[in-house]
Amino acid sequence: MAVWRLGSTKMRHSSSSSMAKLGFIRNIVTNCRAVILPRFGGPEVLEIRHDVKVPDLKPHEVLVRTRAVSINPLDTRMRAGYGRSIFGPLLPLILGRDISGEVASVGTSVRSLSVGQDVFGALHPTAMRGTYTDYAILSEDELTPKPASISHVEASAIPFAALTAWRALKGTARIAEGQRVLVIGGGGAVGLSAIQLAVATGCHVSTTCGVQSIDQVLAVGAEQAVDYTREDVETAIKGQFSAVLDTIGLPETERMGVNLLTKGGHYMTLQGEAASISDRYGIFAGIPLSTGILLKKQMQYRYTHGIEYWWTYMRADSEGLDEIRRLSEAGKLKIPVEKTFPITQVREAHAAKDERLVIPGKIVLEVD
Ligand SMILES: NC(=O)c1ccc[n+]([C@@H]2O[C@H](COP(=O)([O-])OP(=O)(O)OC[C@H]3O[C@@H](n4cnc5c(N)ncnc54)[C@H](OP(=O)(O)O)[C@@H]3O)[C@@H](O)[C@H]2O)c1
Repeated sequence: MAVWRLGSTKMRHSSSSSMAKLGFIRNIVTNCRAVILPRFGGPEVLEIRHDVKVPDLKPHEVLVRTRAVSINPLDTRMRAGYGRSIFGPLLPLILGRDISGEVASVGTSVRSLSVGQDVFGALHPTAMRGTYTDYAILSEDELTPKPASISHVEASAIPFAALTAWRALKGTARIAEGQRVLVIGGGGAVGLSAIQLAVATGCHVSTTCGVQSIDQVLAVGAEQAVDYTREDVETAIKGQFSAVLDTIGLPETERMGVNLLTKGGHYMTLQGEAASISDRYGIFAGIPLSTGILLKKQMQYRYTHGIEYWWTYMRADSEGLDEIRRLSEAGKLKIPVEKTFPITQVREAHAAKDERLVIPGKIVLEVD
């Protein structure tokens, strides 16, 4: 791989040597191809550019030669303007959170990864330079070695969704062996990850999903799967749960979720309102307003139901990523990929994700 470490090379220019003293690494890959979002809109706004700057590596960062990136709902929502209060001033930007590829270069303090190694991982939701590019930059703790038993395409489908599920079930609810867990909307990538993480912990899992996902959720270990399009979910699901992860976040799924919890149980929705409220009222009014709404709901539910209520968000977490790698390697955590597109067809891929009835599962962009 043609990369050049500033720190290990004699430089003529004083600005470059001061960069080296700061521990920055200048890559010989100074420009590369990337999918750019110049403005919010439909799939047609996405542009492929070939001269996008690759920033110098900070000490804890890793340059990854991208092989596959999966499309998350956050990518298509950001493209359409979700989070505009945060991302609007940063346009043009590069979309994409998930990645699988090879390490092309490492920062001066990186110890756990080396050049040439296959890795996978995911960026934080608010990262500015995404992974829809030939060369992506992630922190060391956002990456982990890719198991040899799974392809780059398979690996790229896992981390963002699985880390979201991990944060909720392990980081927030701290689920334990023998507990009952309900996943509302188990057919999507986060739902499937949550079922598999809970099963691997020794929990008993019930879930709701569309008819096309029933076989899949049962195959990965759910003990009960209720088709929300045909059955009355509230009467079909019996008993009480220690944790409810709601990937849908509608008023009726929230009502059902909080009513099915044991005292002290955790209801966690993925549809927290911090970004949408900030988009409506601006970030300076939106953050305190959404915090106030969350605190009020938390107090209300504690008083009326004796439960803990959370908006949960994906967060990079090296402990979580480690467990996700171990489970993926053991074949206990898989996210089926429905279709792949070459990155040059990113507009078609986003259009397909928008029309989820055409391709219901995970879509991955392949980068050659
Ligand atoms: N808070 C966070 O940090 C965070 C992180 C990741 C994802 N999310 C959000 O969590 C949700 C799930 O993400 P994902 O990656 O799992 O998405 P995904 O793989 O695209 O799956 C979404 C699944 O949800 C179900 N679904 C979609 N639209 C629906 C609707 N209108 N009514 C009922 N069910 C519907 C479908 O399951 P069936 O086929 O079984 O019907 C679908 O497979 C998304 O809304 C995403 O934006 C939030």
